[in-house]
Amino acid sequence: NLLEIAQTYDIEMEGACEGSCSCSTCHVIVEDEAMYDKMEEASDDENDMLDLAFGLTETSRLGCQVV
Ligand code: FES
Repeated sequence: NLLEIAQTYDIEMEGACEGSCSCSTCHVIVEDEAMYDKMEEASDDENDMLDLAFGLTETSRLGCQVV
């Protein structure tokens, strides 16, 4: 997932719950809408956590849930 890739390449990304979909610190905003549309849809759990994310946008995802 995106969080693991970021960690592998030393790109700064928070992940307080280490990818277990129970925080929203790995919130990312996908700026390319075409790319966002190609991604698998967020699960209910991810959407629940996204609702708590600071600065939520129409193309927000949780980095640890994006594959
Ligand atoms: Fe906690 Fe992604 S690291 S939800």
